Amino acid sequence: MKLEFTLNSAKVTVETAPDRRLIDLLREDLGLTGTKEGCGTGECGACTIRVQGETKLACLMLAAQVQGCDVVTIEGLDPAGHHPVQEAFTGSGAVQCGFCTPGMIMSLSTYLAAHPDPAPEKIREAVSGNLCRCTGYQKIVDAGLAAARALKEAHRG
Ligand code: FES
Ligand code: FES
Repeated sequence: MKLEFTLNSAKVTVETAPDRRLIDLLREDLGLTGTKEGCGTGECGACTIRVQGETKLACLMLAAQVQGCDVVTIEGLDPAGHHPVQEAFTGSGAVQCGFCTPGMIMSLSTYLAAHPDPAPEKIREAVSGNLCRCTGYQKIVDAGLAAARALKEAHRG
């Protein structure tokens, strides 16, 4: 089937099988390996992307489901890799092995776009679908709070 959608602000047209998983299309066919596959069954959040402004799990979607949609992966969040949430993760020591990081950042950046003044427990909720084996989560919450401050500053400036 012919699939047309917007990926990281660019129009994309690809031929794909109707039963191709979205995560396979992104990683294998389009080379966007920033989106990780952990469990493959909707449990870990490593494959979190944004579709039509909402977080989605790419391992649970068929590519055909994004026909005509706006899709953002970690590569498209900030082409230079300097989105405030990305900067906050490195600045707060919230990246260890890094496997969960793209999914965490997609969840948090989507949440903060709609909730600019979050309480720490709300940040924990925002990443509750993203599993991390390394950090113990506190540094991720710290990164979320730092990112929220940076985003507010940027809007002021
Ligand atoms: S790989 Fe999609 S939720 Fe784990
Ligand atoms: S940093 Fe290793 S799983 Fe989160």
